[in-house]
Amino acid sequence: MKWLIPLCAATLALEAHTTTGLKIEHRVHPYGLDDPNPRMSWRLEGDAEGLAQTAFQILVATSQDKLEAGEADLWDSGKTEGRASHARYEGKDLPSSAPVYWKARSWAGGEASEWSAATRFVTGRIDGEPTAKYISFKDERSFHTKRNELYLPAPRYYRKTFKPEKKVVRAVAHASALGIYELKLNGMKAGDAWFAPGWTNYRKRAYYNTYDVTKLLARGENVIGAVVADGWYSGYLAYGKLVGYGPHRTGRDIYGKTPALMVEIHLTYDDGSSEVVATDGSWKVTTGPEFEADFLMGEGYDARKEMIGWAAKGFDDSEWESAVLASSNGSVKQPFFDKFGKEVQEFGFIRPPVLQAYPAQPVRTIEELEAVAITEPSEGVYIFDLGQNFAGNVRLKLLGKSGQKITLRYGEMLHPDGRLMTENLRAARATDTYICKGDREGEIWTPRFTFHGFRYVEVTGCSQKPPLDAITGLVLHSDTPMASGFECSDPVVNQIFRNAVWTQRANWIDLPTDCPQRDERMGWTGDAQIYAASAAIHADVGAFFRKWLRELEDSVTKEGYYPSYAPYPFGHGKAIHGSAWSDAGVIVPHAVWKATGDPQFFTNHWAAMTRFMDARMAQDPLLKGTAFGAPWGDWLNLDDPTPHEYVELAYFTLSALLMSEMASAQGLAEQVKKYDRWVAMMRENFRKQYLQPDGTIRPESQSAYVLALDCGLLDDPAARKKAGDRLAALVGERSGPNATGMTTGFLGTKPLLPMLTATGHHDLAVSLLQSRKYPSWGYEVKNGATTIWERWNSYTAEHGFGGPNGTMNAAMNSFSHYAFGAVTEWMVETLAGIAPAEPGYSKIRLHPHFPSADAVSETDTISWVKAHHDSPHGRIAVSWKRQEDGSLLYEATVPPNTTAELTLPAVSPWKQADAKPETRTLAPGSHKIVVE
Ligand code: BGC
Repeated sequence: MKWLIPLCAATLALEAHTTTGLKIEHRVHPYGLDDPNPRMSWRLEGDAEGLAQTAFQILVATSQDKLEAGEADLWDSGKTEGRASHARYEGKDLPSSAPVYWKARSWAGGEASEWSAATRFVTGRIDGEPTAKYISFKDERSFHTKRNELYLPAPRYYRKTFKPEKKVVRAVAHASALGIYELKLNGMKAGDAWFAPGWTNYRKRAYYNTYDVTKLLARGENVIGAVVADGWYSGYLAYGKLVGYGPHRTGRDIYGKTPALMVEIHLTYDDGSSEVVATDGSWKVTTGPEFEADFLMGEGYDARKEMIGWAAKGFDDSEWESAVLASSNGSVKQPFFDKFGKEVQEFGFIRPPVLQAYPAQPVRTIEELEAVAITEPSEGVYIFDLGQNFAGNVRLKLLGKSGQKITLRYGEMLHPDGRLMTENLRAARATDTYICKGDREGEIWTPRFTFHGFRYVEVTGCSQKPPLDAITGLVLHSDTPMASGFECSDPVVNQIFRNAVWTQRANWIDLPTDCPQRDERMGWTGDAQIYAASAAIHADVGAFFRKWLRELEDSVTKEGYYPSYAPYPFGHGKAIHGSAWSDAGVIVPHAVWKATGDPQFFTNHWAAMTRFMDARMAQDPLLKGTAFGAPWGDWLNLDDPTPHEYVELAYFTLSALLMSEMASAQGLAEQVKKYDRWVAMMRENFRKQYLQPDGTIRPESQSAYVLALDCGLLDDPAARKKAGDRLAALVGERSGPNATGMTTGFLGTKPLLPMLTATGHHDLAVSLLQSRKYPSWGYEVKNGATTIWERWNSYTAEHGFGGPNGTMNAAMNSFSHYAFGAVTEWMVETLAGIAPAEPGYSKIRLHPHFPSADAVSETDTISWVKAHHDSPHGRIAVSWKRQEDGSLLYEATVPPNTTAELTLPAVSPWKQADAKPETRTLAPGSHKIVVE
């Protein structure tokens, strides 16, 4: 092995470094933070080889001036020795509803960095929850009871005028809704979030958003405006309509009948006094141009009814009604139907018992997509192709006559004759309507209270062929900073990677959803646990999962089981649960801890996690693996099922192993022992029940082997090798000129390639990744996929969209489901070889795996790979390449304040197949190595 750039520690003390990347509770300058002791983190930047922190200091102040003057009136941590680049706030009580400023510096090699740039965050209600009353319109309409008729009410516009008594120096607003809302001050929108305040079980918890509105305030009279739509609270939700869940089986009004709004603005005057303007019965309310607005059904907008200046001074609201306290609409008891039967429940106002600051990055417009083509499959029907399947909305730009009706429909795919394919949307109508006002200058509209999963937009109602820029795609998702990159010599593989990242983006709408297009869009736990580690490679998902893990815990059943999806809007404290889905309660905290290094992801939920494991043990005291909940098993496998009991034994073992590891990280020795004992018992039961003397598993399926290997059922190296060989043989048996031979479903696919590599079948793993045959990721790419499909056979050349019996498309057939995209975890961790050796990548495992010289492949075997991940310590970048002379060129950049363990073969893999691996430690900096 030849090091082209030698490790050089001598320069360490000479080179300056900086302290940067300040985050608080996994967010960059958040608005709305109600943790009394938030976690503060930073990273080091600099070129010095071996750059490592020896101490840090944090200053926190109530104003920028004070911070700059070094007057830390809230907290001065003092010089604190240690390598950790994070700390919990330990200063004076943080002020409520106020901006807070902070900066940090670090020491390395005896030298202090300059202070970081000052950053600020705005606190929420640290001194208690918001106390403003929720208001509504007076709702006298009868409850919607017709399952077969759509009921789509108009959003409400709220308005309030106020005059601050003195000179305002600061104004901070907290707002929430039962429903989704947009807030305005003097005509200007507060913040840039979509769908605030997000989806929670509103009967247990709701979030409020915080805005610094100081700059939006005017002298004298001021106007607050807000629009509130049904959203998740009372709109059509998930598959409720399809399966007949919800009040009167309608699928809507799941949490309540009447949306409500809550706002409080905290004004601080120049004399130090303060005042709160809050929602109450003095606000006015009316309907506006939106005549309907629903997540699943779409939005309707009559531009002739626009109320110019409605949220600004001087607008005449005398015709508007008076708002009422939400509670005054009274009790509304209705029968609620779901899987567990019927129960009369309250659908009148219930104030959420817990109101907290929204803990994650909001959904934002992240990118705009220009249309790449327009087709006209039949006269007057124009289909815009945005070139990419995604989730979001469009900006419609057109010239129309007053009253002209334009209809927008959305689809992920087209039928062979060019028509929009909408069968797979099931009960989601996904149709927006715009009625023109007839502005000669043209008009522009974007729906605000709905979203769709789509690539194609069908536009009808135009008087002539619209131009390409009549439709622009707005890509929406939770604004988690993206953190990965992957490229290699095979363009199809690069597209697979992009497809997975796009599918994550399409499903990161406030929660990890299964799919963004059909009438589902739920936080399916099985999907989330399979994909969590991949998600954490592609984005900084700490804050995002901080939110969702609360929803997950809020949805735990009375028995203590994690549910099949979270939030769980159906059931009465009951929920469907099941093997591998419920395990999200253990697997997701573990995955997010590994990626971020922050143990709060399990310490905050430890009691619920322990209760779950005990409840599961109670129903299977001998730990044999008995059917647990719904029998999804290896969901969407290709006629190669794995028994439910087997899946349960595998996942129970995996969860017990992870619990043991997390218990150990907390120093809980007794619990470590307990879970280790369980694991030993389950392994023994596995050997007795499933393992044959010849090392095969009965009943046999590809996923049975994959799960035995991945979930820890098989620990003996010889037995593992046998299982891996048999797995490879099973894939081989089913492969052919038109078949890869893979049969695995959701559970088996994620660990398939990792387990093949781990048992000496790396070439097979690489060939599956690169295959264009059915079923494979490459088959999807070959057929035009820009996202990951729900099923291997979502579309086949043979059966089109309908599957073998022709009915699949109208039943369950999404083109944007991330579960199979979990192959990207293996692409980054194994093929490129970047993985956390310690939580948060403070120690990095660099261990690339190369296809061998005689790898057989349908196409040129991958000959180079380049990848990166933005870890909490900064970018980890690697690349490897088979050079012309057969040698291996390897390059890596290791970020400051970490170390990396690099494992490479002693001789180039293209010169000698079984060369011994050599491991060495790399210090922060850039490294270039040639293996001859
Ligand atoms: C969802 C899934 C989910 C599954 C569970 C489907 O409808 O889209 O991805 O995991 O149901 O059975």
